[in-house]
Amino acid sequence: MSDLAQLEQTYGSQNYAPLPVILAKGEGVYLWDDKGNRYLDMMSAYSAVSHGHCHPRLVKALTQQASQLAMVSRAFYTQNLGPFLKLICEATGYEKGLAMNSGAEAVETALKVARKWAYTKKGVPDNKAEIITAQGNFHGRTISITNMSSEPAYRAHFGPYDAGSVIVPYGDIDALKKAINFNTAAFLVEPIQGENGIVMPPEGYLKAAYDLCCEQNVLMICDEIQTGMGRTGKLLASQHAGFKPHCTTLGKALGGGLLPVSMFLASSDVMDVLQPGDHGSTFGGNPLACAVGIEAINVLYDEKLMENSEKLGHYFLDKLKQFNSPYIKDVRGLGLFIGIEVQKIPAREICQKLLDKGLLSKDTHGTVIRLAPPLVINQQQVDDALGILAKVLCS
Ligand SMILES: Cc1ncc(COP(=O)(O)O)c(C=O)c1O
Repeated sequence: MSDLAQLEQTYGSQNYAPLPVILAKGEGVYLWDDKGNRYLDMMSAYSAVSHGHCHPRLVKALTQQASQLAMVSRAFYTQNLGPFLKLICEATGYEKGLAMNSGAEAVETALKVARKWAYTKKGVPDNKAEIITAQGNFHGRTISITNMSSEPAYRAHFGPYDAGSVIVPYGDIDALKKAINFNTAAFLVEPIQGENGIVMPPEGYLKAAYDLCCEQNVLMICDEIQTGMGRTGKLLASQHAGFKPHCTTLGKALGGGLLPVSMFLASSDVMDVLQPGDHGSTFGGNPLACAVGIEAINVLYDEKLMENSEKLGHYFLDKLKQFNSPYIKDVRGLGLFIGIEVQKIPAREICQKLLDKGLLSKDTHGTVIRLAPPLVINQQQVDDALGILAKVLCS
């Protein structure tokens, strides 16, 4: 083990198991290690680096704002938060946004708003509100979110957990129907389950769930922290299904791969349940984060990254489906959000072989290789990635 990896191991918590490479530099779709070896990044920091590493426009927005005004807290108005909120609301069609930092904080915000909405608008009896989530979900790592997880590794030994959360099978509309009762405040769901292995819902499920939520006066909250910001070929993955959920959470790529920037989006009717003092975050909506968030959205449109994701995502997926490999069990995805489910050999072993050949990826749940490159990738670079994948999976 290298000295730097050893330092992390000695002085850090062992809450991750990194692949053995020390990354030192990034540009676009490429990363370099400390010895100068170049890699194609097929991870994008779990979709946070959709704009590519160190995008010049984003770095410029960051440095300009950092040298002018970085942080004042929400105790005052700034020149940046209003324009950021207006831009994200106009792009997504929501009336209001609440800026936070990490993805988990955006989800916590959604849960708090949904509960308060249930008590103050729907008339749910005090402390009885329920949130429904889907089996295999991943919404972050806070205590209340792990309470909603079906994954033992995420939940175990972090209790006690509170009541008020119900888990239903992902993709099963009848199970959702049965789980909803008067006390249900919200159904929180990923349009595609990323961490669970790029698991796609059955055709028509999301829209049917939305219709059911509307009928039953339940808020449908789509967690688009990983699938949003063009990852699947549209700004929001829910747009593929042709509906706008009552609320949406965004994060990761909203910070342009430079900063943690997240957002909870809703209608005024829902958002306005929050009053001054109810909720907040010292860093949420700070000028630096807003300047980067604004540029992250602008770059997405100016560089047609959503179109690129759609076009190259199709191409990538089609080519992968033609692979004749004894190790591939399934290939699935939407846009540049692709999972290769493997068999006979652990996915981590394959990721290690890909690393040795200059491609960076990470397994999820031991059986799926996640391919989510920066959306600035071009066809030649996709072909290069396919070449490396073929060498490892087909020989
Ligand atoms: C769908 C989804 N929600 C929430 C989160 C949590 O985001 P963060 O790690 O920024 O707290 C993630 C992270 O992977 C995610 O994929």
